[in-house]
Amino acid sequence: YYSEFLKELENIEDLSSLNQLKGKFIGRKGKINELFKNLKDLEPQGRKVIGGKLNELKEKISFLLEKKAQEIKARAQTERTVDLSLPGKRSWCGSFHPLTITLRQIIEIFQTLGFRVEEGPEIETEYFNFEALNIPADHPARDEQDSFYLEDNFLLRTHTSPAQIRVMQKYQPPIKVIVPGKCFRRDAFDATHSPMFHQVEGLVVAEKISMGDLKGTIQVFTKRLFGEEREVRFRPSYFPFTEPSCEVDISCGVCGGEGCRSCGYSGWLEIMGAGLVHPQVLRNGGYDPERFRGFAFGMGVERIAMLKYGIPDIRWFYNNDVRFLDQFKTFR
Ligand code: PHE
Repeated sequence: YYSEFLKELENIEDLSSLNQLKGKFIGRKGKINELFKNLKDLEPQGRKVIGGKLNELKEKISFLLEKKAQEIKARAQTERTVDLSLPGKRSWCGSFHPLTITLRQIIEIFQTLGFRVEEGPEIETEYFNFEALNIPADHPARDEQDSFYLEDNFLLRTHTSPAQIRVMQKYQPPIKVIVPGKCFRRDAFDATHSPMFHQVEGLVVAEKISMGDLKGTIQVFTKRLFGEEREVRFRPSYFPFTEPSCEVDISCGVCGGEGCRSCGYSGWLEIMGAGLVHPQVLRNGGYDPERFRGFAFGMGVERIAMLKYGIPDIRWFYNNDVRFLDQFKTFR
């Protein structure tokens, strides 16, 4: 019976025929049980020997049946999870984030103009973020409503300008640096505000620096980034840490300066704040304002990217919506 069993077992592929085979050999009415019934016709000695052999055989068979059952189940499992007829997964290519692309372009332009890239801490002291920059204690920017304050008078920097002081304390003039980085303000998210955003700070200090150097540098930068056809305008403004101060506008890319809906009918788009470094700020950086002068500027990376690519809502930068991000695939 054993070799007959083995032969039949070999051909079995599913659980129900395996069950049938089990019944046929070791079931209640199976072949082995029939043999057990014949034991009673034997003398006690033979009954013991043959009975033992039959039990062994039954155990062997039931072991093999169990093994086969597990094989069948395991095969069913893999067949269910790996459907070899399915098409393969298409691999897809990522792209640089529009802010990364914009930041790289900004950095590259300034590098070709001889600027070095520096960094400053995102967690600042009130001294570096405000005081050293001539921003008085009663200035509205210092209000807790505008800044994220941490313990022990630390805060998240509200602009990259504190890096001006840190760079001056670290290097002797002449210096020519840009400082890109994250900034934080207690603004609620809307189309043009985000509590976290990026700026690029610029600082040049040397013996003979004038407003002309500032204007020339910014003009070259702006035309390289936005295109030669865009006009650049310097408009008087105020910052506590520069004197004189200005804001820089570029002509609207849609109307070319005539005034249209996309530039708010003014013909101009604001892209950065700038000015000549205030003598007290030079002093706070450890420089002699009688000997050195400087110019500084600060621009918002999100704002520049929005103007450059026609992005209407700052929140799109942070939503991680692939339909938006995918459009920058061809940019490097
Ligand atoms: N720190 C200013 C801002 O955040 C920008 C600025 C930088 C203006 C440097 C002048 C000089 O608005």
